[in-house]
Amino acid sequence: MSRETSVPADQLTPGQVRRAGRWAVGNRDGELFAVSRRCRHQLADLAEGRVDADGCLVCPWHQSRYDVTTGVMVEGPHGFLGHHGRTPRYARFVRGYAKVLRLRVARAVRAGADVVVRPGRTDR
Ligand code: FES
Repeated sequence: MSRETSVPADQLTPGQVRRAGRWAVGNRDGELFAVSRRCRHQLADLAEGRVDADGCLVCPWHQSRYDVTTGVMVEGPHGFLGHHGRTPRYARFVRGYAKVLRLRVARAVRAGADVVVRPGRTDR
């Protein structure tokens, strides 16, 4: 089994996100997910993000939030470049183009001691 598209299952406790090749694989309160790794804002690595209380994947740089079932950005960034803070108009603009450029979504399934990414129909 390729290590590039799998993660040891014991590294994916609820709320955690890990890298598996080009995928960010996470555990949303027991439900596994896999989405493409690059944030649609400024390409931060979403495998370094976290899962919030609503089950959304949060970008580590400016906290854009993603629905991991659809790949849609549900909340835009809180800042840009080195600025961190509320930027409502800019956040709406980013959300607008992110509707077109959704994250790719794949299935993440438990296979023995690993969680494996299985790109398929939903991998756009
Ligand atoms: S790079 Fe992800 S929110 Fe800015």
